[in-house]
Amino acid sequence: MSELAWWQRGVIYQIYPRSFQDSNGDGIGDLAGITARLPYVAELGVDAVWVSPIYPSPMADFGYDVADYCDIDPMFGTLADFKQFADRAHELGLKVLLDFVPNHSSDRHPWFEESRSSRDNPKRDWYLWRDPGPDGGPPNNWLSRMGGSAWEWDAHTGQYYYHAFLREQPDLNWRNPQVRRAMDDVLRFWLDRGVDGFRVDVLWLLIKDAQFRDNPPNPAYLPGQPDHHRLLQTYTEDQPEVHEIVRSMRATLDEYGRRVLIGEIYLPVPQLVRYYGAKGDGADMPFNFQLLNAKWHAGDIAGMIRDYDGALPEHAWPNWVLGNHDNPRVASRAGVVQARVAAVLLLTLRGTPTLYYGDEIGMTDGEIPPDQVQDPAEIRQPGIGQGRDPERTPMQWDASLPNAGFTNGRPWLPIATTSSVRDQDRDASSMLSLYRRLLSLRRNNAALVQGTIEHVTAYGDVLTYERRHRDQRLFIALNMSCTEATVQSHRGVVLLSTLAGRDGQALTEGVNCLAAGEALVASIRS
Ligand code: NOJ
Repeated sequence: MSELAWWQRGVIYQIYPRSFQDSNGDGIGDLAGITARLPYVAELGVDAVWVSPIYPSPMADFGYDVADYCDIDPMFGTLADFKQFADRAHELGLKVLLDFVPNHSSDRHPWFEESRSSRDNPKRDWYLWRDPGPDGGPPNNWLSRMGGSAWEWDAHTGQYYYHAFLREQPDLNWRNPQVRRAMDDVLRFWLDRGVDGFRVDVLWLLIKDAQFRDNPPNPAYLPGQPDHHRLLQTYTEDQPEVHEIVRSMRATLDEYGRRVLIGEIYLPVPQLVRYYGAKGDGADMPFNFQLLNAKWHAGDIAGMIRDYDGALPEHAWPNWVLGNHDNPRVASRAGVVQARVAAVLLLTLRGTPTLYYGDEIGMTDGEIPPDQVQDPAEIRQPGIGQGRDPERTPMQWDASLPNAGFTNGRPWLPIATTSSVRDQDRDASSMLSLYRRLLSLRRNNAALVQGTIEHVTAYGDVLTYERRHRDQRLFIALNMSCTEATVQSHRGVVLLSTLAGRDGQALTEGVNCLAAGEALVASIRS
């Protein structure tokens, strides 16, 4: 497997730093806490950690509002703590990926404070400022992804500024070469500190229409959907010029040898795959989020796998994401039984898997009492299912300890359920054991890492496919229903099943049974 890059062979584990491990009793996770838990992450068998933003921030959007791109928020620690974390991760063989948030800064960032100070400030054009529209209101109809107009009036200078998210998150002007140079320096600051790559926040939103044209109405909008869905995002996302920016980020990373560039992009597959660029000059992995919204149905998922594989440019490396801090957890979307099937799916598909912290112990979405809601998305548009607190609850380390061992203080969000790493650690049938077995199987079978994916088929509720490399053939069968099912197979031997006691059993030529919610990986012969 040596010809592949580490990020093609590896598995990425996302840590939401507020919620992983608190070391100082303030109820919020921090870098020292993460460092202390790195041996657990390494033993799990993943290859890289991606840490959501840890930079100084007023925390209006929990770190996605950055007030200084080149430091660490005191809540999370110091640059010295970051060094200890990165060194320890590297000692344990883990790569370190940071979250890069270039689309917007905090309104408290000195760049924005200068920009808003006067119309002729040298940094005025670092952000998107416009005169009022003819009626004295916002310059156009663009809507914020957090609800309401995307334009905020600034009485001091008599203009509006654009914010795709909160008004505390003004969008930077990526058409300004000074902004680009400043952001390249930010990348270099962290690359100089040994970071192995970046996940780039909302990469597909960086450039907006130069003429600031109104977005057209969305004919498919349904009441109850988030506000910005009223409009098609024709002039506010996926503008052609964004690809030039991706190429220049790529070039900056390439100054350091090949470090990995991952893009957060919520677009349909044909548009998504353009972010790979031509012949490796784009993102290494535009995140493939299809599983996050997939109907948990074998036919739908088979179609999705085939379409994605068919749409990938020749040089492109696929990837799959099962969970993140912006979407309900898989154990709540698909149910706790099917979450085991989903684990087998994620770790046997072709392409780099990204796993969200806590999914490896089957964490479900937490219930957040109304008076404990934290997420601005929920506070601004209550009750329409946009709130992200449920999937951000603290990691459950040890159910016998207060707050599941996450903190000695009062956790910033309530603990979701009681099952914990400690309970599952020595239980061979637990979710944690399943993830460890799957990660080890993946590591030890080239077909799972670099094999082709073939014969992707749905038979009723059963999804099957093969992974092939040289003379190795692996057969994967996933029963996505809660009743027993049958599957056609070649003769072989089960390497891993979600069902206790089935590993090592034979598969016969022809019809084989799958228990309700069973998923298996078998080595087969023709
Ligand atoms: C995407 C991030 O994942 C999300 O958490 C954040 O609110 C927005 N970008 C704005 O930065």
